[in-house]
Amino acid sequence: MRKLYVAMVGLPARGKSTLARRIREGLIAEGINAAIFNNGDMRRSLVGAESTEPDFYNPTNHQGRDIREMICRHNMNDAKDWLAKNGDIAILDATNASRARRALIESTLNDHPVLFVECLNEDPVLLEACIKQKTTLPEYAGYAYEDALASFMKRISYYETLYEPLNDERFCLRVDAPANRILNECPCEESPYYPAIREIAVSVWVHSLCLVRHGQTEFNVQGRIGGDPTLTDRGYAQAEALANHMQGREINWVFTSTRVRSHQTAAPLLANRPDTTVMALKEFDELWAGDCEGMLYSDIRKHMPDVTAGRNANKFGYAYPNGESYAVLCERVQRGLRRALFLAGNTPLLIVGHQAVNRVLITLFLRQREEDVPYIYIPQNQYFQISLTPRRKIFERIPYQE
Ligand code: F6P
Repeated sequence: MRKLYVAMVGLPARGKSTLARRIREGLIAEGINAAIFNNGDMRRSLVGAESTEPDFYNPTNHQGRDIREMICRHNMNDAKDWLAKNGDIAILDATNASRARRALIESTLNDHPVLFVECLNEDPVLLEACIKQKTTLPEYAGYAYEDALASFMKRISYYETLYEPLNDERFCLRVDAPANRILNECPCEESPYYPAIREIAVSVWVHSLCLVRHGQTEFNVQGRIGGDPTLTDRGYAQAEALANHMQGREINWVFTSTRVRSHQTAAPLLANRPDTTVMALKEFDELWAGDCEGMLYSDIRKHMPDVTAGRNANKFGYAYPNGESYAVLCERVQRGLRRALFLAGNTPLLIVGHQAVNRVLITLFLRQREEDVPYIYIPQNQYFQISLTPRRKIFERIPYQE
């Protein structure tokens, strides 16, 4: 079997380390011995606080540049030694932003092929959230939030001045990280590991996603659609029951819509979870019913027969007057799901969605005929448990005690 180096490439906060960990985990699951050699970890242990300061990354700071190159060489040597023993794939996790740095890697690691994997992420919402997350790292302990943010942004701007996307490298894979999509590739056909790495790069990767619908609302009882109603007593009880059911389970991220009923459903669950990150995404707001927002289904039937007829004829494709169709909803919910999965990285997450939103979310995991999507059963006292990696595909609907 030919051994292989995988060298990550990309600006900070683009998802390189998450993808590196996935590659390692996915390969190990295939019985392939893979390990990560992370320049950042070595920098923090060897240099410490000085290397948190942005000036360390200023291209005109020759001392900083030399230290970073020394760390890179150190890691390359470790990786080389490890492959020379019993390793199969050594993953070098660093920005490797310049062509010159990558030429150094290719010339030093000349005993086995080097596959460069570039992570791109141009989604402004994700970038902002990732950069904020970085300020919570131990490296920034003792910094005020604003100072940590400014420091990290400055570091990124220095990297931007020397960043050159992959171009001349012999073997490469350029990945749109949030979309799990390959932008272009120069396949390393001589490596038997390349197909597995490629599959990991394009796979949705979620160990534990709980997909919940908000609890019962006043509008649900009345048969009214849309709006921003609050939960009923039964809805609150359902939210409490959900929190009890989830007790003791690790949930690192909770995503809600921007609607009150979604926040109220998440609240009891979050009460004793100070370390869980919560984010409201408007992409998870319920199907927008336009002129029919807040109306009773019965009134729509009576006063707007065209709407009812249109939905009956093609519920997936029909858009409410000045509102959305399921087809349109699919696009924004998919954007929200990408964001949620990217931010959660490899950690467990939960989404509190709505009836139509959850129908669409489900079909992003399970293939369904379009005409069936708007009729999927989404109860308010059950949740969907989803686990999806290249080797594991689990999908369950689980009740919780009201
Ligand atoms: O009735 C609750 C609700 O979430 C409405 O707000 C939304 O318009 C509807 O479900 C979506 O379901 P359907 O497309 O079946 O009307």
